[in-house]
Amino acid sequence: MTLSKTPENIRMMFNVIAEKYDFMNELISLGQHRIVKGKSLKMLDIKPHSKILDACCGTGDLGVLIKKEEPLADITGIDFSEKMLSIARNRIESINFIQKDITDLDFPDNSFDFIVMGFGLRNVVNPEKALYELYRILKPGGEFLHLDFGKKNFFGNIFDFEVPLLAKIFNSNSEAYEYLIKSKKNFPSPDELIKDFEKCGFKFKLRKDFVFGVISAQVMKK
Ligand SMILES: C[S@@+](CC[C@H](N)C(=O)[O-])C[C@H]1O[C@@H](n2cnc3c(N)ncnc32)[C@H](O)[C@@H]1O
Repeated sequence: MTLSKTPENIRMMFNVIAEKYDFMNELISLGQHRIVKGKSLKMLDIKPHSKILDACCGTGDLGVLIKKEEPLADITGIDFSEKMLSIARNRIESINFIQKDITDLDFPDNSFDFIVMGFGLRNVVNPEKALYELYRILKPGGEFLHLDFGKKNFFGNIFDFEVPLLAKIFNSNSEAYEYLIKSKKNFPSPDELIKDFEKCGFKFKLRKDFVFGVISAQVMKK
């Protein structure tokens, strides 16, 4: 049975897998996800005191990596899964983690210098609404870094076999990992995504592909 994509189901699913999330990410990607996250953050010119939103922050990976390079960055992480957030809060105290739905934000217009989003948009039930919100709260001249699976090629297909197998072996929630494969297949290509971002007002700045194109990062400007 595959999980139907409603916000409540998605939130519950991340609550259920939260404890094993970091372990499974390391295992599935053989540590690559962290390296790629670090490299894609280098696409931004983050300065001390830059105001940054980590949207769909999960267990806080992107914020933690930013803080290592720029300890004075002023970072807010938002996510609607309280269990993912609780792990994030235990990892680092200097980031403000808030439970919020990304499609319904109460930050004032033009609040952030940078918005980063890793492997999040694919899980959002109404991505268009989320993108309009992100555009609204980004400062003019600010940048949005989006990172997720990219090309659907041979290397990406290996992942589709590997993930359910590892989920079974490590007794992780297999329904959730079935959902992951499905969401990856249905997700727009990086080229299509850039067009979707442009429809919401963003202007394309830069794109980089990693791990044979399996992961792609795009930087969009307001
Ligand atoms: C695959 S995780 C990514 C976590 C983290 N950014 C990373 O790179 O490891 C996706 C996250 O998006 C969150 N999420 C999905 N839909 C959301 C929404 N509408 N509002 C807020 N968070 C959402 C989930 O709770 C989950 O923690």
